[in-house]
Amino acid sequence: MESLMTLSAIVDPVIALVPSTELRDTLQRAFSQEHAAVENIEEFFRLLPSLEWSKDLLLTFAASWKATHLKMLAIYGLSCRLQRIADTAVGLDKSNLYLAAARNASTSYEDLGLDFDAHTHADLYDDFAEALTGGDLWQLRKYRLPEASRFSQWIYRNMVVGDIANGLLTNMFSEIYNHGEYSIALPAVGDYFQKHTHLTAPERRKATTYIAAHVEDEVEAAHFLVVVEALDRYLTASKTPFVAERASSVFRTYLHNLGQVMCALTNMMRNESASRTGQLVSLGGAA
Ligand SMILES: [Fe+2]
Ligand SMILES: [Fe+2]
Repeated sequence: MESLMTLSAIVDPVIALVPSTELRDTLQRAFSQEHAAVENIEEFFRLLPSLEWSKDLLLTFAASWKATHLKMLAIYGLSCRLQRIADTAVGLDKSNLYLAAARNASTSYEDLGLDFDAHTHADLYDDFAEALTGGDLWQLRKYRLPEASRFSQWIYRNMVVGDIANGLLTNMFSEIYNHGEYSIALPAVGDYFQKHTHLTAPERRKATTYIAAHVEDEVEAAHFLVVVEALDRYLTASKTPFVAERASSVFRTYLHNLGQVMCALTNMMRNESASRTGQLVSLGGAA
């Protein structure tokens, strides 16, 4: 695994492509201000391939990680809301509202399996989780950490219930964050499968297709830039100014809440690793 790869090093060149200086600075600042969360996330993927983890830990990872991704329903909900505003808009720029809805919706094309023979990202995640855990028990709700459920509910409400601009900021940040996270996850998960499972090379490729599909062709980076455009069109159409403090709060809360999920998973790995070392020491002492 490329251990020197940091989340910021991956997202910074893409953030640099954002036309608005204010939005660009707000995005970059969020990653540096939430450095504790970012370090927890990087630490999780650094530790992942270091040991073969218990079934319980792998089930918890598979269930909880899914809850931090796969937000297609929320994307659809946000686009429906934008379309509804455009349909009934009087004196507003309908065309930019419809285009904002369309651009936002385009971030779900790959998830739906358009152009990929309807292989949805949900199906690809099932392949990954089944290869990791050896079955489908991971789908049980009891394996989802409360931190992951809270994160998933926060995303859904932000995009489907809350202020539209906040919803777009949430989707936008999710795309740039995912670009960074999946880039780190791909070598870490590949390493885990290689070291700790008996999967053949083709089976490992199938198991990691979910992650690779987001990294190859810069899928998430392109999604990020398209939501930047959707936000710009929405703000223009609704004559709403960009408020850096509001954007900062969405971005930082995203990282903070996600950091808690990854921190809980990292603590599980640390505890398991420590208890195994303890067992080895006591076995050594008894010998
Ligand atoms: Fe996806
Ligand atoms: Fe995406």
